[in-house]
Amino acid sequence: MAQNDTKKRKKPNILVTGTPGTGKTTTSSALSESTQLRHINVGDLVKEKNLHDGWDDDLHCYVINEDLVCDELEDLMEEGGNIVDYHGCDFFPERWFDLVVVLQTDNSVLYDRLHNRGYPEKKLQNNIECEIFLVLLEEAKESYAEDIVMALKSDNIEDITRNVSALTDWAGPAVSISLFTNLVVCEGPEELYSHPSTSEGMPIPKALCFIIIRRQEADGVCGIDDLPS
Ligand SMILES: Nc1ncnc2c1ncn2[C@@H]1O[C@H](COP(=O)(O)OP(=O)(O)OP(=O)(O)O)[C@@H](O)[C@H]1O
Ligand SMILES: [Mg+2]
Repeated sequence: MAQNDTKKRKKPNILVTGTPGTGKTTTSSALSESTQLRHINVGDLVKEKNLHDGWDDDLHCYVINEDLVCDELEDLMEEGGNIVDYHGCDFFPERWFDLVVVLQTDNSVLYDRLHNRGYPEKKLQNNIECEIFLVLLEEAKESYAEDIVMALKSDNIEDITRNVSALTDWAGPAVSISLFTNLVVCEGPEELYSHPSTSEGMPIPKALCFIIIRRQEADGVCGIDDLPS
């Protein structure tokens, strides 16, 4: 495992970034379960701890106070063992991270995800342009050593599975393989969930399936009632 500041921290810090809707929270939650690293959702933290300078009516989001966020996170980051999930990356200290993951999603897939969330047209278009022009990837490359920046495709559930597995290998798995044997397949928002014996889909870990369902539920795409009994 390549480490930026090995002497100070025993466990790595990973930044998961990308345009809104590319799957940062889904991926980070799954990765947190498989590695036992701490998942820090910066957007949630900003709201919980009021680390912002008010609401931007135009952009429909809080105006993040970057200094307050960095102060809040400094001790945890020094300790190590964190997965930081945020749609920006240029204001965190470079020394914090051992790996920077930039999730990328096909424009039409991303459009549907953000549309499902009910984003206003302007916000939706801003985000799609951000993805088309690779804004987050450029920001990551400018802010961190190129050899720690990793772009990963996040179009479908197979991508999440593959990404979580690769990142877990990199960080060192912390959960027993038995967690990954009780499989339930999650085919996507429109379809029902089914056991692998009745599905041709790629089996995914049950834990990951539940994480995906929770994220979809948060976006109003489907409900927990859709789960197999
Ligand atoms: N690779 C993927 N395959 C299928 N669905 C996905 C994938 N990634 C995310 N989704 C779905 O897209 C929606 C947004 O995912 P998620 O909340 O993880 O994105 P995010 O990058 O954290 O967004 P934000 O920046 O707004 O917090 C959710 O409904 C989730 O289930
Ligand atoms: Mg998120």
